[in-house]
Amino acid sequence: MSTHGLFQALQLQSVRVENKLTKTLICDGEMPAAQPGQFVMAWLPGIGEKPFSIAAKEPFSLTVAAVGPVSEALCRLQPGKRVWVRGPLGQGFALQGHRHLLVGGGYGAAPLAFLAGEIINQKEDVTVCLGACTAKEVILASVFDRLGCRIRLNTEDGSLGERGLVTASLQAELTENRPDAVYACGPTPMLSAVNVLCAHFEVPCQLSWEAHMRCGLGLCGSCELPKEICEAVGLPKGWLVCKDGPVSHSRVTHD
Ligand SMILES: Cc1cc2nc3c(=O)[nH]c(=O)nc-3n(C[C@H](O)[C@H](O)[C@H](O)COP(=O)(O)OP(=O)(O)OC[C@H]3O[C@@H](n4cnc5c(N)ncnc54)[C@H](O)[C@@H]3O)c2cc1C
Ligand code: FES
Repeated sequence: MSTHGLFQALQLQSVRVENKLTKTLICDGEMPAAQPGQFVMAWLPGIGEKPFSIAAKEPFSLTVAAVGPVSEALCRLQPGKRVWVRGPLGQGFALQGHRHLLVGGGYGAAPLAFLAGEIINQKEDVTVCLGACTAKEVILASVFDRLGCRIRLNTEDGSLGERGLVTASLQAELTENRPDAVYACGPTPMLSAVNVLCAHFEVPCQLSWEAHMRCGLGLCGSCELPKEICEAVGLPKGWLVCKDGPVSHSRVTHD
């Protein structure tokens, strides 16, 4: 399935509960052309359309946190119901080197689980740093564990893993276990902090950004990354999250 601008109806095969707000919707179709970090526009007639990272391509899956009208409606879907998707869209992650460090905050873990699976298939090293406010908000840790990743967990209240922000684990890894590249997905402040740390340690990083999207195809301009972020990360002004991203690649190159 590679529909880009056209919608395709997929039937829900099963639903896995990740935590109180988050579910993984496992569909009956596949998206063989999808790359980790790419996204789809998911549409429910009469409710709306929003972008979601591809969490797995076979079977096609999305991990959705219920925070508003579209995401709540998606999380209410029962097996047998349909969701309309167009994609895969955007530019995903590209593997650099052989020692890979993944950093995820919240549902940012979803595209990283897809990425970790691809890295493990290539028999390369992968460490995952996952962060959340509390233990209840950590998602997909068991998926990374089953894949065979080395995992570091951070919660802000210390209820699981080390107390503090996920960037504390990132800093420790950059110091003690220097990776060839860092791949991150999560809230904007986390991505900005990852960018600063990776620049300091001269490790290339790939960051998956979020923005308000309408067309998802580079036509409407609603997903332009703010100027300050473009300047901080070294991206040209007017960088579109849907077409040029969602993943940005830092200019640092690894020898
Ligand atoms: C490239 C890309 C990939 C994305 N991937 C995913 C994904 O894999 N899983 C996923 O669940 N979402 C993902 N999103 C976010 C998703 O597109 C929607 O923005 C989100 O589901 C909210 O849409 P809504 O219509 O349900 O609620 P909205 O009406 O858009 O939002 C409701 C309220 O919740 C706030 N809000 C939005 N997101 C969050 C959040 N994460 N936590 C807390 N509050 C929030 C909004 O600011 C608003 O106040 C992605 C976005 C982008 C751009
Ligand atoms: S969503 Fe329309 S240009 Fe990106």
